Amino acid sequence: MTQQLPQQETTLPTYQNFSELYKHSIDDRAGFWGGQARRIYWHKQPDKILDDSNLPFAKWFVGGETNLCYNCVDRHLPDRAEQDALIWVSSEINQELLSNHPDVADAFKRLGNSVEFYTDYAKRRLTYNDLYKEVNYFADVLQRYGVGKGDRVVIYMPMILEAAYAMLACARIGAIHSVVFGGFAAHNLAVRMDDAQAKMVITVDAGLRGGKVINYKNLVNQAVEQANVKPEHVLVVDRGVMPYKPNAIDIDYAEQRKISHENKARVEPVWLESNEPSYLLYTSGTTGKPKGVQRDTGGHAVALATSIDYVYNGKAGETFWAISDIGWAVGHSYTIYAPLLAGMTSIMYEGLPHRPNPGIWWRIVEANKVNILFTAPTGVRMLKKQDEMWMTRYDVSSVKAFFLAGEPLDEPTAEWLSGHLGVPILDHYWQTETGWPILSHVAKFDHKPHKQGSPGYPMYGYDAKVINEETGEACQAGEKGMLAITAPLPPGCLSTVWRNDERFINAYFGLFDGTRYSTSDYAQVDADGYYHILGRTDDVINVAGHRLGTQEIEEAISGHDEVAECAVVGIHDELKGELPVAFCVLKDHSLVETTESRFRVEQQVIGEVVKSLGAIARPAAVYFPKAVPKTRSGKILRRAIRALAEGKETGDMSTLDDPTAIEAVKLAIKNY
Ligand code: PRX
Repeated sequence: MTQQLPQQETTLPTYQNFSELYKHSIDDRAGFWGGQARRIYWHKQPDKILDDSNLPFAKWFVGGETNLCYNCVDRHLPDRAEQDALIWVSSEINQELLSNHPDVADAFKRLGNSVEFYTDYAKRRLTYNDLYKEVNYFADVLQRYGVGKGDRVVIYMPMILEAAYAMLACARIGAIHSVVFGGFAAHNLAVRMDDAQAKMVITVDAGLRGGKVINYKNLVNQAVEQANVKPEHVLVVDRGVMPYKPNAIDIDYAEQRKISHENKARVEPVWLESNEPSYLLYTSGTTGKPKGVQRDTGGHAVALATSIDYVYNGKAGETFWAISDIGWAVGHSYTIYAPLLAGMTSIMYEGLPHRPNPGIWWRIVEANKVNILFTAPTGVRMLKKQDEMWMTRYDVSSVKAFFLAGEPLDEPTAEWLSGHLGVPILDHYWQTETGWPILSHVAKFDHKPHKQGSPGYPMYGYDAKVINEETGEACQAGEKGMLAITAPLPPGCLSTVWRNDERFINAYFGLFDGTRYSTSDYAQVDADGYYHILGRTDDVINVAGHRLGTQEIEEAISGHDEVAECAVVGIHDELKGELPVAFCVLKDHSLVETTESRFRVEQQVIGEVVKSLGAIARPAAVYFPKAVPKTRSGKILRRAIRALAEGKETGDMSTLDDPTAIEAVKLAIKNY
């Protein structure tokens, strides 16, 4: 099916080189982004490109009306209806699973999914035309149950195509999705449902991880029970993995899809003003309560479409694979929205890097001729430990570049990858808040040569500098400071914290009198102008590229009746970058006097964390000191504890209240 759609002006501004482009983006923000706005379809052209009259709040493309889903899907129908939009590969759905769960194959059929089954994986290709239909059915179902513009919809799903349909369908009808990472436990889900005041939750019967069945439906049931704001409905995509007893508010997606399919349902896109929210994505900060990063619509679309071209050098018709979960920013921006905005083919992968064997990534690359790869370094470090033949046996010559982000990229990993692939390995740096790279090497321009060990230099639109926290002045080359961005933030970055403008100002713009966004990362610039990231300035830790707040973990541990006080710190780990470890002071220390009792309490503490946050936040060790070091004003000295846990010197201890606490921590580590 091909329909004629309004075409958009496609002439884009041209730049001789990256320096010229960057300068334009900072000196004439409205001029620069006004030019980039031509990359997307506007139902109504913006009246004003930038409204910076109320900084740090910036409004982009004011008065313009557009729709993300229309730009990702409908707009491509005239030219690429039969091109693959999404290719879903699951190494979890294999022969073994099919024989243990005979309903799975039928469930696919009920969902209208024509899947190809192989011995150890399953695959489905979905053209832009297929995607158009499925997204319309999904949007029709949402509307049937009263979901409309501005309503919040929590999506708690594994990496399956229906998760992509759900996101795009929300965007189509102007509903605000909030995807919650499937690895989070019920409490985490409930906290997010409450903050967003979700009208609907979309989930599955079960997820699969390394062959293990994860009972999503049960976790949702628990979360609904815990939540103060109850959703009206829970829409369940039944994969046939785990039978469940439907509750009164549950809706079976397959049944509803059937109706929409029979009616050949088509849902008109709802045109949103550019600054209306498209989605929320909760992320960890310094407090126990996660922040609802709010993304706009028009700025988001323009920023992602621009980045695919300038940063990633991706082209319509090429294949992009961002190996990430949709629960994270990378999955939002570069598995779903950006490749589709650009008319590329995107791969959605359900599975682990080393199952059924460590060749699976490269096999997917070969079979689908992937051109651009993107993941977090932890996945690559896992593969680096395996036999080289897993990599060399596949033809990976389609790959043009491999991007990494989310955590520091160590040189041996970068070298290993570049040695095997023979293509640029590009470290780049960004955050959930920004939605697209702050620092990168641009793949499109022949700019500064690629420097291993650095995530590059500021991208267009980001007036990013390393700032001395005391003086607020820019640091000299080699001097360590906070990486900060002068307001306004470019399009695509968070417009505020959901329903909490004050937190947006205080958390991000509080440090430098409201004029600069603080990334909360230390950085330095070297003599050649390359930036280097030196770690977080706050209590956020980074486990396998996943951002966790130590305070959230501490709050979970406080759920244990015997814990009087605790401190969680991240310690270095060869594979995952960092791992959380907990230091718990018990009300009654005699509870952990024997090895057996200590082990028992440790397991209970770990259990509290897993129960409320999920296995992702599981502490690698729990120590039981009699006291933890604090300042005289009562603040726990996490940095000192971290140093001790890593066997290092504590550094300046002039604010320490009770010196014996240091010895107590050392003893607890020794006794572990
Ligand atoms: O500390 C930085 C680290 O990850 C944080 C952002 O994490 P998240 O919000 O999950 O967004 C990830 C999007 C890619 C940053 O504040 N980080 C991100 N990229 C890098 C990095 N640290 C070092 N090098 C990087 N390339």
